[in-house]
Amino acid sequence: MKRPILIHPDPRLKKLCDPVADLSDDLRTLADDMLETMYDAPGIGLAAPQVGILHRLIVLDCAKQDNGETPRPLVMINPRILASSDERSVYEEGCLSIPDQYADVERPKMVEVEWLDRDGKLQKEEFDGLWATCVQHEIDHLDGKLFIDYLKPLKRQMITRKMVKLKRERARP
Ligand code: NI
Repeated sequence: MKRPILIHPDPRLKKLCDPVADLSDDLRTLADDMLETMYDAPGIGLAAPQVGILHRLIVLDCAKQDNGETPRPLVMINPRILASSDERSVYEEGCLSIPDQYADVERPKMVEVEWLDRDGKLQKEEFDGLWATCVQHEIDHLDGKLFIDYLKPLKRQMITRKMVKLKRERARP
């Protein structure tokens, strides 16, 4: 089932999320719903706070299906960055909570991440390129951080004002 995505500014997008204590059926349903919501958007990543759930859970799939790559939906529970490369890369980022706004963000080019998968199994993998950027962007959400927090204040305020306006328009009957 698709879930509504919160739009910035929203206090729930600024919260430090709690670790998941145990894997319940509700949590698996939430993960499945988040993947459905993400693919439908369409997007390449989604964090639980973006659907109003303040737990450390993210989903992502950066496979380029246009280029014939096989979909690779990842569910990450309590994801943790173990190591980051000194080498950095710049990607133009966007966010499903900040529709139609894009900006360059510089981040470590490679990260090693540890997480619990949908079955509660501990996983560890090194990500590079778009996958590395996406996983860092999603983990940031769990710490109440958005990609616009990396931008200069003026640019950030400009985007926030646009989002306030968008929310006002959407709220209109
Ligand atoms: Ni985002």
